[in-house]
Amino acid sequence: MFFREEPLTELDAAFGRRGAQGLPLTPGRSIGVDLQSIPYGTPVWLSSTGPQTSLNRLVMAQDTGSAIVGAVRADWFAGWGYEAAELAGRLKHSLRLWVLCGLAHQFRPDFSVMFWNEIPELSQTFMKMSRKVPKLARRHLSTTHTEHFMAQSIRDDDGVSNPTHNPSLEQVVDQALAIKPSRRSLLLGGFGAAMLPFVSGLAACSSSDDVVIPTPAPEEMLGFTAVGISTADTVVVPAGYAATAFIPWGEPINTLAPAWKPDASNSAAEQEQQVGDNHDGMAFFGFNAAANGFGDRSDEGLLVLNHEYINPEYFYVPGSDPADWLAPFTLEKARKGQAGHGISIVHVKRAADGKVEHVKTSPYNRRIHGNTPITIQGPAAGHALMKTAADPAGIEVLGTLNNCGNGRTPWGTYLTCEENFNGYFGWNGAHTATPLENRYGITAAGFGYLWHTVDPRFDVNATPNEPNRHGWIVEVDPFNPGGKAIKRTALGRFKHENAELVVAPNGKVVVYMGCDERNEYIYKFVSTGTFDAANPTSAANRNLLAEGTLYVARFDAGAATGDQMGTGVWLPLVFGQNGLTEANGFTSQADVMIRARQAADRVGATMMDRPEWVAANPKKAGEVYVTLTNNNRRGTTTASSNNADGSTTAGSARPPVDDANPRVNNVWGHILRWNEAGGTGAALSFTWDIYVLAGQPSITDARKPSANITLDNLFNSPDGLAFDSFGRMWIQTDGSFANTGDFAGNGNNQMLVGDPQTKVIKRFLVGPSGCEVTGITWTPDRKTMFVNIQHPGEIGSHPNRPKNADGSTFTDNQIARNATAFSQWPTAGARPRSATVVVRRSDGGVVGT
Ligand code: FEO
Ligand code: CA
Ligand code: CA
Repeated sequence: MFFREEPLTELDAAFGRRGAQGLPLTPGRSIGVDLQSIPYGTPVWLSSTGPQTSLNRLVMAQDTGSAIVGAVRADWFAGWGYEAAELAGRLKHSLRLWVLCGLAHQFRPDFSVMFWNEIPELSQTFMKMSRKVPKLARRHLSTTHTEHFMAQSIRDDDGVSNPTHNPSLEQVVDQALAIKPSRRSLLLGGFGAAMLPFVSGLAACSSSDDVVIPTPAPEEMLGFTAVGISTADTVVVPAGYAATAFIPWGEPINTLAPAWKPDASNSAAEQEQQVGDNHDGMAFFGFNAAANGFGDRSDEGLLVLNHEYINPEYFYVPGSDPADWLAPFTLEKARKGQAGHGISIVHVKRAADGKVEHVKTSPYNRRIHGNTPITIQGPAAGHALMKTAADPAGIEVLGTLNNCGNGRTPWGTYLTCEENFNGYFGWNGAHTATPLENRYGITAAGFGYLWHTVDPRFDVNATPNEPNRHGWIVEVDPFNPGGKAIKRTALGRFKHENAELVVAPNGKVVVYMGCDERNEYIYKFVSTGTFDAANPTSAANRNLLAEGTLYVARFDAGAATGDQMGTGVWLPLVFGQNGLTEANGFTSQADVMIRARQAADRVGATMMDRPEWVAANPKKAGEVYVTLTNNNRRGTTTASSNNADGSTTAGSARPPVDDANPRVNNVWGHILRWNEAGGTGAALSFTWDIYVLAGQPSITDARKPSANITLDNLFNSPDGLAFDSFGRMWIQTDGSFANTGDFAGNGNNQMLVGDPQTKVIKRFLVGPSGCEVTGITWTPDRKTMFVNIQHPGEIGSHPNRPKNADGSTFTDNQIARNATAFSQWPTAGARPRSATVVVRRSDGGVVGT
């Protein structure tokens, strides 16, 4: 590759300022590249040393020497470091570039072409190449060779006279842009400029002996500037980043949907066509090249997010009762609430300037809500406990509720996770809760949603089995707008947080899951079938969650007690094994899955400090992390464990501390990690240690935090957890924002980044007043990050909460009538709304570096 190293400040009379490495491009000129210097899979990057530059009609054609195999273009880019990476795609073999610029005045002379490898796995290869390529380059860089390149480029490139059997550039462009005909005229407009003379840029550096290949600067794990805490009603991100609110609650899902009404007076039917409330787990699925299925594009794809619950104080127009804004509660209100739950599938597209837009005309835009029919699949389908009068076969349920975290599969589907489903149920009249209802927390009034008072489906006296049809992992194919979502009962029924999927070395699909309640368990599913990596979207792969074995974790102290590390085992929840027998009340595998919590009680799983998200380290096979958000029911009263017969009422056990959950009254939470034996998710044993114990460094007794907590990174209640593909661990919080006492110096809920190796943790983002930060995903190039801000405006004990003259905090009834009194995020003057934020680097670079 023909690069020279030049200082940034060096000016060239002909070309202006040059990049430190690279070749200046000039209008109408081509640049040849050594055929042996580009490893397979290297994307092309373009960079500009100018602060703001636009480039029109750049065409790059890829030439192996025997055939032109591709053409790409970039319409526009600006700022230092912008790239045309996803447009350029992944180059095969070697290449030459031709730059065709029809609008010379828009093409500044300070461009450089450089090659960069953003794929970490390939970096090593590239760097090895870098060390040896200079010799190769020197060997090929004779003047004669250069002239040959020049001649070749002129001959093949004009699109008029093509003496070879290679396709002409016009043909190549037609191929490359077949999926986007609208671009053709503009591109071919550029080819009009092919009549411009081509002069090889190689002339500028052809005979140099100091040719070098640029060695990519290593990506920094924590390269951003940490932000301080905030109690303000805004999103804070590091210097050099921008965060933009996107698709808030009520946003029309498509062009046909009605507008959101700021007084919250939209009907249930309207809410079914609008983005739901309380955005939570989220995944970006890039389109394929044809924009008709799952692929790896970063510029266009489907953003899929779930909606955990609603905030009734902001969700409804206050009624006629001055003492109770929810009264009278009606079926219409219940239906609107149900419509605010579920999933939104949003077609998104990144504009050339990096902004993300919602493509509202797309048929992929879709809502799945609390009354959408969903298939029940797996061992529990059709079981007696799954049947209702409306569904006597037990194979179809309406809706998915209280979806918390999420997962994604390598075959392009989204996994949504039903968490506190119990809160929607209740009963009218007399009822004695069964052990099953007790173990899952079904109570007379639920969490106060009141649905059971108007909708018999949520009254367990009227529909006793309806709760059994919730609490599952649900699989959705966002690329099939007409398809039904599927509840995968082989993954067990509990209060699911998220579903972290990895493919084990033996091809088994492993799904890690936490059950988020105090003193509940950590599970994993291992598929019966194996993943076909060569055909990721095959029908067989798409059925891998249909059948497998569910395990639950036991964390043992290991060789020493009190050292916050140990060993562990995965205990199978299989009917007939480990006491899951008829003698102990289990009747079938379906029964074990429906009553998974009780099965886990029986096999002796370890009660954890509220397992939230699980995340697997992409850079260390078999290493998995879990947030244990907090637990005020450990070690504080007379100790008690969950009864082996499954009769303990949810959340009522008071276990003593143990090595994995070492703190009494763990108000700040911790993050634990385990390493599967042999580095495989299919293993049945592991070792574990604690990554961080959150807290206050001033505390030095048994509740003290770990050494990686400093005054600069205080946080509490880690919840969302996800790795980006580079290996940064992003930690999101849903804890106290009181900013006083135990939580002094914590500020609003936030997001931090942890280095898995060094354990250093830095704060990246702080959310607005009263929110939780949850849900995170990236485009494949990691230039765009999506983060969810859930329930801004929840008053709690926020320091800025609205108060009455007597000092008392506003009640829900008051805030419902003064909906802008506390938070107005994200729209000044309007009631607070959950929303996604799009986070980008101002220079277009990779987020987090
Ligand atoms: Fe919905 Fe466990 O957070
Ligand atoms: Ca130990
Ligand atoms: Ca959560």
